[in-house]
Amino acid sequence: MHPFSINEEFLKTIQLKTYGVVVSKPSRNQHLCAMPKKDIYILAIESSCDDTSAAVLRNEVVLSNLVANQEIHEKFGGVVPELASRAHQQQIVPVVDQALKVAGVGKEDLDAIAFTRGPGLMGSLLVGVSFAKSLSIGLGIPLIDVNHMQAHILAHFIGGEDVVKPEFPFLCLTVSGGHTQIVKVNDYLSFELLGKTRDDAAGEAFDKTAKTIGFPYPGGPLIDKASKLGNSKKFRFTKPKIDGLDFSFSGLKTAVLYLVRDGLKENPNFIEDYRNGIAASVQATIVEILLDKIRKAIELNPDIKGIALAGGVSANSGLRSAFLEMGDQMGLPSFIPDFQYCTDNAAMIGIVGYRKYLSKEFADLSATASARLHIDI
Ligand code: KG4
Ligand code: ZN
Repeated sequence: MHPFSINEEFLKTIQLKTYGVVVSKPSRNQHLCAMPKKDIYILAIESSCDDTSAAVLRNEVVLSNLVANQEIHEKFGGVVPELASRAHQQQIVPVVDQALKVAGVGKEDLDAIAFTRGPGLMGSLLVGVSFAKSLSIGLGIPLIDVNHMQAHILAHFIGGEDVVKPEFPFLCLTVSGGHTQIVKVNDYLSFELLGKTRDDAAGEAFDKTAKTIGFPYPGGPLIDKASKLGNSKKFRFTKPKIDGLDFSFSGLKTAVLYLVRDGLKENPNFIEDYRNGIAASVQATIVEILLDKIRKAIELNPDIKGIALAGGVSANSGLRSAFLEMGDQMGLPSFIPDFQYCTDNAAMIGIVGYRKYLSKEFADLSATASARLHIDI
């Protein structure tokens, strides 16, 4: 079958669904997965925010993982949702095409298409969902919807037998631009949310501090770089007092804003003179806030077999080293994904897709994007 020709059988199923006529026939998934195969090839698509990414996996192994960043947002100091959707629309076909070429896999070899259902920006998600549905119809293969936050966690399971992976249950600290969560992971597809941010995410705290001291968006990596040149004890910021395992970062953002505002009154070059010190002090405070909570979560969950870090902020060098050190001190194996699987990427969507494929959890064409999606959905 030509990759973009229409599978008549499959089309009939959609029409039946659309008009609500129930006819006795094999389920779509039974029909599509009838042929057992040794290796599973998954095409994965991630478009939840401002990166258009496509990956191809053979079982747990990544054959290609392409990410097209959207530089357009830089000049606005943050992601502009409408522009992100437009850029995804332009990029998705070439990125998918390239991912298949790099992997050396033809469309006809694919077993399923995994896509990010949410959480994320609605317009951005819609591009990925629509594209995945269309390709699934065109190729006559199953569709798998993926929760972006679960994908950040399962990034730890990317790779073959040579990669050491966490044992269940483990605790995962997921820190990204939109989320900060402590999750107990009981199995590949079983998650328990133990704590979350009540306001800003850790990534936002990095990005907003970066903006205040004159770095372009996204400023997290630039704070990381500047921290290496600054004194982390130069400025002291109070840590929030939040009960339980929840986080709060909005107070820190305001404290940085006031520090800079007051500093500029005394010294017009305050930012230039103290940029590295501010970056290092803020980074150290964020790391302390995060580690205090994960330490508490470990104490409350004595059955866990390890701790893991996930999400874009896990690319932060200060957090990575402090996290590994804490694992050593507490006698627990600690895991951080490969650098390329920390920030948003489609390979992590593919690994969830693979796990869902094995447990036959497929989506049908009524699947919709969801801007807000709980971790256990
Ligand atoms: O997971 P991610 O790629 O996207 C979301 O799902 O949000 O995370 C992006 C976040 C941004 O806030 C970015 O500044 C932050 O991760 N980030 C970092 C570093 N690299 C990325 N923050 C601090 N240090 C880094 N090295
Ligand atoms: Zn993310």
